[in-house]
Amino acid sequence: MRDKLNIDLNIDHYLKSFSKSECHKNIFSEEECEKLIRFMFKGTSKRRLGKSGNIFFSGNFDFIISIFYEKLKNLIDLDDVVALRGNYFITPHQYGFHSDMPEEEDLGFCSGDYAYKSILIPLFLRPVDSDCHPVTFNERLIDYGTTLDNGPSKSESHYNSIEDYHHLKNLYDIMGKQIDYKEYRFDDEIFNQLDLGRTSPIERFSGFSVENIFSWCPGDVIVFDTAQLHCSNLGINKKRFKNKCALRISLIKNSLNERDPIDWEKIKSKKATAMGGLLA
Ligand SMILES: [Fe+2]
Repeated sequence: MRDKLNIDLNIDHYLKSFSKSECHKNIFSEEECEKLIRFMFKGTSKRRLGKSGNIFFSGNFDFIISIFYEKLKNLIDLDDVVALRGNYFITPHQYGFHSDMPEEEDLGFCSGDYAYKSILIPLFLRPVDSDCHPVTFNERLIDYGTTLDNGPSKSESHYNSIEDYHHLKNLYDIMGKQIDYKEYRFDDEIFNQLDLGRTSPIERFSGFSVENIFSWCPGDVIVFDTAQLHCSNLGINKKRFKNKCALRISLIKNSLNERDPIDWEKIKSKKATAMGGLLA
């Protein structure tokens, strides 16, 4: 029976799966990024326009990952993955401070399902010389998808919003040690360096610390824990982006062996035939 994600049952599996966020450079060529963008427009089955102007595309993701399985399998353990979540997005906005965990309203999970790793593949950035940076934090929040919105302004998102961080539960470090939230001022130097203040108040990051600052480079593959808190900036040194696009996929595993792992090879042959020459 499918229901919302069972967080409490699988805490130990989250803790065991944590690892440092990584960026793998130049995994997809310019031509392959163009193919992925073409699939976004022609091959996905669902479109959604967000309130703030973001455009989301989803559906047929097993086909996408099957096409590039040979590349991704060397970067991430795909063997016991039972399901995928995610979307393409095109956005003109700096993303707030959040996790990519499934929404509480998503009723598509078995009891042993847990959200394992997320993959972010930047596909384009306009202007191309914009200086945009995804930022991962040292803290993981094992809860439904959440935006952290302490301070005077809020993120626009469909996720649950938390303003008083003393109410956060299931906050962990990479070693799986539970963190008692402590309020302390976020690093001014990093805040200013990334120009996060363009749209985020510094209070939003109060009590948290940065693990990695990546660059938004089309063709790279950024892998991070799905429960890991992260954000992005608009750009630094006035090199702000107007639009950017990425494919984001979250991988689901199951702790109770109640679902069969995805058979990537089978999907690859079946879907490739069904989708014809779409990516040719
Ligand atoms: Fe995210």
